[in-house]
Amino acid sequence: MRIAFFDSGIGGLSVLEEALSRRPEVEFLYYADTDHVPYGQKSRAALIDYAGSAVSFLLAAGADAVVVACNTATAAAIDFLREQFSAPIFGMEPAVKPALAETAGRRVLVLATPLTLREQKLHHLLDAVDPAHCADLLPLPGLVAFAERREFDGPAVQDYLQQALAPFTLANYGAVVLGCTHFNYFKDSLAALLPAGIQFVDGCRGTINHVFHTLGLSAGDAGVGTVHYFQSGRAVTDPVQLDDYHILLARLSWLRHL
Ligand code: DGL
Repeated sequence: MRIAFFDSGIGGLSVLEEALSRRPEVEFLYYADTDHVPYGQKSRAALIDYAGSAVSFLLAAGADAVVVACNTATAAAIDFLREQFSAPIFGMEPAVKPALAETAGRRVLVLATPLTLREQKLHHLLDAVDPAHCADLLPLPGLVAFAERREFDGPAVQDYLQQALAPFTLANYGAVVLGCTHFNYFKDSLAALLPAGIQFVDGCRGTINHVFHTLGLSAGDAGVGTVHYFQSGRAVTDPVQLDDYHILLARLSWLRHL
């Protein structure tokens, strides 16, 4: 079986890393839409167009199922993709429900891109799971740009985060939802600014549980974790770029347990 992961850039590697950690007997395709990153500040119509091209490329490349490893593309385009293609298409949304469940009445800060935060999908979810209005929303598009430059810490990242978090009384929060797959790279930078005890909640594990369950896959020791990488429809063969992906996966594996 071949499972494809699709994101605007390197964010979706956090979902791929969760799948790889289970060592299933599966071949993976990873598609980064590097020609169009960032997605979070684009229009819904543009994202429907980009996501349609990516999924049609991946299915033509032999994918049996596609994971839209991007909250923004899911918010904008998942309904269109499911109407357009008959293969299983999995999406991601900010993990607000588990975050609220784990924090017992304390506030939850949802970090995502501007598009995810303004789309109806998230507001329908909040109406359903947050009747007490415990969730606050914070767009952090700058983190996508930092991630694509492989700048995960340092003074510029710290200044950006400090300014963005300044309006919130962080002591009132029990959890931070990483509602953009690019934000997983910043867990250590965020942890340095948040009071001890705030939990990070992301959708990686839940998404992969759902994908594995639906496709009847089980974790095992047999899988060798073959991944074929593509950037906006072009196969990545440059060893330097492949090495970059391996280094990013290693960082994500290290951060997974923070
Ligand atoms: N990684 C994407 C997400 O999960 C979006 C990043 C972007 O703005 O391109 O929302």
